[in-house]
Amino acid sequence: MMVDVHETAFVTSTFRSFNEELSGDPFSRLWNNKKTDKWIQSYLSAVSQEEPLTHCVRNRYFLDQIRQLHGNNKVQVLINFGCGFSMYPFLFPEEMVHIEIDKPEIVEHKQNQINQWYSQGLLPKREIHYISADFNSEFEQDVLSKIKNLTNDSSSFILIEGVLFFLNASKTAKLFNLFSLSQNKGDYIGSVSYDATVLKTPVFKRLKDFFHQQRIENLECQVVEDSFYQHLPEYKLLNKENYFTLSTVYNYQPESSVDDILKENFYILQKK
Ligand SMILES: C[S@@+](CC[C@H](N)C(=O)[O-])C[C@H]1O[C@@H](n2cnc3c(N)ncnc32)[C@H](O)[C@@H]1O
Repeated sequence: MMVDVHETAFVTSTFRSFNEELSGDPFSRLWNNKKTDKWIQSYLSAVSQEEPLTHCVRNRYFLDQIRQLHGNNKVQVLINFGCGFSMYPFLFPEEMVHIEIDKPEIVEHKQNQINQWYSQGLLPKREIHYISADFNSEFEQDVLSKIKNLTNDSSSFILIEGVLFFLNASKTAKLFNLFSLSQNKGDYIGSVSYDATVLKTPVFKRLKDFFHQQRIENLECQVVEDSFYQHLPEYKLLNKENYFTLSTVYNYQPESSVDDILKENFYILQKK
């Protein structure tokens, strides 16, 4: 069974529905479907059984960070780059504004589904603006002007999670430049990436073997070091967490060692 890069969005949403109490997301289950369930079963047995939990924790961490910032009047707009099928808009108070950016096929499908679920009364109404973009194209000017029009200089939080793995370093640099042009002093970025330590782990080898076996080739598999975030000229790094450091905050016990968990880092940055 083949899975395209954009279908990874279904996988992430399904993972979040494995433990709704931990992820804090009772809506992600709306995306569950049989094809993804089947793919997930092979993925979990081939790569790591702990993947759903790591995604629940990731969602919960950013949910809590953004909720707190919004509560303190520091963030009015959430801009989600490579939003996939994440359901943040429905997890925050109504007055928050959302800009969701992804490939055209994801954006179109998401918008149609959300509208259908509104009409069925399954979701609370939210102000969501969708933007289609392929980060591997020359998308920056178009997206920047759309964001500027929508935010009107309101405070923002830019989230990019589960995406940098699929991009290369030059596209990543362009994205962070765009983030800086879109934001004002005091605004925030939440970013997720692997660092090079993951490349030596048995679990990463299993992941590569699994992708190969599924004929998912030509992935960038980008890793990003702390130094990238530490040296961004326009941002200061405020915090870094991962699945292990958050276990005491959210009260769970990681079952596997760091060699058997695809350990992503979660960064919070603030514009200087
Ligand atoms: C693993 S999913 C994560 C989705 C979401 N951020 C989440 O955490 O639920 C990766 C997402 O990145 C998007 N993506 C990957 N490469 C992209 C590109 N070149 N341009 C735009 N979006 C891209 C995919 O379409 C997909 O929705």
